[in-house]
This record gives sequence, structure tokens and C-alpha cells, in this order.
Amino acid sequence: MIAWDPALALGLQEVDAQHQNIIRLINELDANRGGGKTQLAAETLRFLHDYLNSHFVLETKLMRDVGYPDIERHRENHELFANHVIFFEIEKEFGVVTDQMLDDILAFLLEWFLHHITTEDRELANFVRTRAAAK
Ligand SMILES: [Fe+2]
Ligand SMILES: [Fe+2]
Repeated sequence: MIAWDPALALGLQEVDAQHQNIIRLINELDANRGGGKTQLAAETLRFLHDYLNSHFVLETKLMRDVGYPDIERHRENHELFANHVIFFEIEKEFGVVTDQMLDDILAFLLEWFLHHITTEDRELANFVRTRAAAK
């Protein structure tokens, strides 16, 4: 369980709102571990996966709109992450999501997501704010 930390806020309303939702979903996933709730957890994973993809679409649009110079690297990171998070493949392959798999996915999700927000997304937000201030 992780709480939303105001220090994670980037000052971009829509992006921040989505980051909060992603953290909420990660917590929901955490809460659905164990105790025979793996089906629920699998559904949350699927939802989280879709939500992350639409979040990446939003950030890509933002990067294009502001002419972000580092767009390719940022997009590559999103893609690497999406490819890494093979929720469905795991689920399909094994037919079931075990607690161990969930633990691994959760640890990975949290680490990647927090790292990404505090580095790449922060750089993007700084660029957007600088651009806005220069106008
Ligand atoms: Fe983000
Ligand atoms: Fe991002």
C-alpha cells in the first residue's frame, strides 16, 4: 500500500490526476492479493494495463503539443514498460494469476512507476512549465 505523496505532483492537472488513479489501482491490486481473490486481481490488472496505455497516449499527445525534444526516449520507456508488463500473457499462459506472480508484478509496477514519475515525467513537466512561462 502506498499513499499519494504531494511530492509526486508535477503541476500538470490531468497528468497528476491520472498518476493518482494509477496509484489507486496499484493499491487495489495489492488489496486483491491472496485469499482466493486472484480473479479480482486479474481484472484489476487488465484495467490497470488499459489505463496505463491511455495515460501514455495522453503524455505522448502532450509531448507532441509542446514539441518536447526528448519525446522518443520517453516514449521508448513507456513502450519498454508496456512490453515488460505482460499481464495478459502471464494470465493466459498459466490460466491463473498466482500470489507469487502478483507479488512480482506489484513490486515491478511500483518501482517502475515511482521512478518514472520522479524522473522522466518530472522532466517533461518542467519543460511544459518553462514553455508556458516563456509565452
Ligand atoms: Fe506518467
Ligand atoms: Fe511518462
